[in-house]
Amino acid sequence: MDVRGRTVLVTGAGRGIGRAEALHLAAAGANVVVNDPGVEVDGSGGDAAVAAAVVEEIRAAGGRAVADTGSVAVWGDARAMVERAVETFGDLHAVVNNAAVEANRGIERLTEAEFDDVVAVKLKGTAAVTHWAAAHWRERHAAGQRVDRAIVNTASGSGLSNPLPGHTNYAAASAGVAAMTVVHALELGRRGVRVNCVSPSMVRTRLTRGVPGVDGAPARDPDVVAPLVAYLVADGCPLTGQVLSVRVGRITVQHGWSAGARAVTDGRWTVPELAAELPALPLPDPFAALAAALGGALGDAGRARLEAMIAAGLDA
Ligand SMILES: NC(=O)c1ccc[n+]([C@@H]2O[C@H](COP(=O)([O-])OP(=O)(O)OC[C@H]3O[C@@H](n4cnc5c(N)ncnc54)[C@H](O)[C@@H]3O)[C@@H](O)[C@H]2O)c1
Repeated sequence: MDVRGRTVLVTGAGRGIGRAEALHLAAAGANVVVNDPGVEVDGSGGDAAVAAAVVEEIRAAGGRAVADTGSVAVWGDARAMVERAVETFGDLHAVVNNAAVEANRGIERLTEAEFDDVVAVKLKGTAAVTHWAAAHWRERHAAGQRVDRAIVNTASGSGLSNPLPGHTNYAAASAGVAAMTVVHALELGRRGVRVNCVSPSMVRTRLTRGVPGVDGAPARDPDVVAPLVAYLVADGCPLTGQVLSVRVGRITVQHGWSAGARAVTDGRWTVPELAAELPALPLPDPFAALAAALGGALGDAGRARLEAMIAAGLDA
């Protein structure tokens, strides 16, 4: 099971995790479309040299790659990326939706542009590239081609089990990407397309600069996710519809929202009945979820510390 001869479009492949994925895939024999407009963390600016440098690196090592500097947030650019893959290498076998920007701020101060920009890259960008890839694959399938195709989306723990304050836009987009993964696995399976999602955690890139715990250990290098992505992209991989989180050497199957306790009535609830029943159910505690995300358990003192930490982070 390998990626030799397969053409893979990796978005946001100029830096960090995406760059490591592109290098890994190319070294394993894939043709790689290195997409990246070379923007700042918040999506501003742009530098064509960022994608070009990765292409150079791949070619210097004897691999095959082409650069693309379009934005995944622009529907037409997403189409052009898919066309570039097909024009350059003859077909497109897989997409790794990896691009993201961040603008972390508490909801009270979050601007409309900060909300839109983050959601546009991670959520809409994933839908846009998947749309054009799926449209291409639909044509090929209708023409009788039967080839294993794959999409690998990229979520974040922030949108799955880790409710990080200040992440309204990023967490919502990330949760949406995980939800989209399962929907697209069901929609596209009939054309031989497998759709999975990786959720990196505590990987050392510019996005995690200054995050406590992201140290210089090799286990936190940006290439920690690449072997899993190569496996999910490989011809013959059986997985589809899965969201897999990756933290150092640990891959965890994510189960998403699951049903918990239940209150039931035969007729219509009244407000007093709800007031009596709902607080008595075993309800999840968001502070306990945050404490777990940060690697600890929650005691009374812990809750106060977390409240102070949230306030300090958001009001700074
Ligand atoms: N680093 C971590 O620990 C971590 C944790 C959780 C999730 N992730 C996810 O992993 C992915 C990669 O993150 P990273 O840490 O390598 O970040 P990074 O900032 O190092 O790299 C992201 C790349 O995406 C590019 N990009 C931004 N907007 C784009 C657009 N509109 N079109 C195409 N490319 C665009 C940027 O130019 C940048 O080179 C992201 O989806 C991120 O949400 C990372």
